[in-house]
Amino acid sequence: MSDDYRCIKIFDTTLRDGEQAPGCSMNSQEKLEVARRLEKLGVDVMEAGFPASSPGDLESVRAIAGVIKDCSVAGLCRSLEKDIDAGREALAKAASPRIHIFLATSPIHMEYKLRMTPDQVLEQAVSAVKYAKKFCSDIEFSAEDAFRSDPDFVCRVFGAAIAAGALTVNAPDTVGYAMPDEFGKFIRYLKEHTPNIEKAALSTHCHNDLGLGVANSIAAVRAGADQIECTINGIGERAGNASLEEIVMALRVRREFFKADTRIDATQIYQASRLVTQVTGVKVQPNKAIVGENAFAHEAGIHQHGVLANRATYEIMTPESVGISKNQMVLGKHSGRHAFEDRLKDLGLAVSAETLEKVFAEFKDLADKKKVVSDRDIEALVMDAAVAVPETWKLDHWAVNTGSALGASGTIRLQHKDGQAKKLVSMGDGPIDSIFKAINQIVGREPELDLYEIGAITGSSSAQGETMVKISMNGRHWNGRGVSTDVVESSIKAYLSAINAMEWELRGKSEQ
Ligand code: KIV
Ligand code: ZN
Repeated sequence: MSDDYRCIKIFDTTLRDGEQAPGCSMNSQEKLEVARRLEKLGVDVMEAGFPASSPGDLESVRAIAGVIKDCSVAGLCRSLEKDIDAGREALAKAASPRIHIFLATSPIHMEYKLRMTPDQVLEQAVSAVKYAKKFCSDIEFSAEDAFRSDPDFVCRVFGAAIAAGALTVNAPDTVGYAMPDEFGKFIRYLKEHTPNIEKAALSTHCHNDLGLGVANSIAAVRAGADQIECTINGIGERAGNASLEEIVMALRVRREFFKADTRIDATQIYQASRLVTQVTGVKVQPNKAIVGENAFAHEAGIHQHGVLANRATYEIMTPESVGISKNQMVLGKHSGRHAFEDRLKDLGLAVSAETLEKVFAEFKDLADKKKVVSDRDIEALVMDAAVAVPETWKLDHWAVNTGSALGASGTIRLQHKDGQAKKLVSMGDGPIDSIFKAINQIVGREPELDLYEIGAITGSSSAQGETMVKISMNGRHWNGRGVSTDVVESSIKAYLSAINAMEWELRGKSEQ
């Protein structure tokens, strides 16, 4: 980036604020894969989790910290020594660790949540930063609900946090209440009135309750913010966080206007978005900017005519610039390994040699069943392989018997990893219910089925059915996804993959 452009840091919190949103939980394997994608995308900082919130979270932050080398890995901590100790432990192996400490500064949070006076908040913030600074040089301090706080108090707390060693101070709009003009003024005020602000980076973190998360983040950049916190697909608490892809592309497309940019490799955006959709099961709306199904579709005749004559008539950026491949090469059962590998490269799906073996074999199976294998089919194969956990139970075979006059019965045979096979027949309210009941009896667990969603990967009658299930037990959640040309089979695969994720976690990963 030339000197004429300010480089805005991207702090991604998909794995923390995003993951803590209802329905967005990920298992540790999935988090690791998302972390690898974020590294490839070029984020400056990734917040990998909240280590003190659960032993599972601590473990996944530790796993991510152990493999990510090209960006900072942050762990969120309340302003408490026990949280900071957990953060320190989780980040011990990080190449570039960051401890992210937060404490609320708004009157409503201080009075009703913290039951602390402003002076006590200031003192606790300072002692937390000082404590963390003994183990980690890169400390970020966030004033939770900053926008609804007294700006002078935020400046005082930020000044004290910087004096105690914070290198980044973050002013969130925690409840998504700000208007862009106001938020810009607020950030400018902090920039102008915080003592020693030139010694730290000023960051923002905007929620989307009024649909203004991105607009407020962009206003903050205009007002001098150095870092933006955001998530892939805008997932996050309630209405979500500001979306990374929208912020990055707004700055990239309007670089001259902002005189600012990021170091994100935008061609990795689409695959990062697909991966997050896939592992959370939370789809983006079709008209979502940048990554929605229709973001680059031109339906009206007059638009199509214009785009054919010159794409710039109706396109302010190209699909390729965000990693959407327009190469329509068709793969089928006669396609060889070279063509397959080339397609993976075009789609930005780099895989290890071992995964390539597995995925290529699955591609051949699929190509036998379907005439044409689409990019979406290939993406699904690769992403499933990347986030797969070891299989405690494997599907051997299944059958269902159903009709309008009779109840349904399902027969299933599963193979346990220790070699024994178990077969069971169960009655149920429809074929899926009967099969899921049979699986529960075989595995000896009865999780709640929180979500069962079925769709098609592409739109033809030979399309593959894609099933997403979410199950839970004792407050813990697991996701599963299954793809097959048969919808009952895709449902079984999805349910089994959730069961396997549950077994993997409940039985202790090391035992597997
Ligand atoms: O929304 C918020 O205020 C947060 C902080 C913990 C940064 O997520
Ligand atoms: Zn937040």
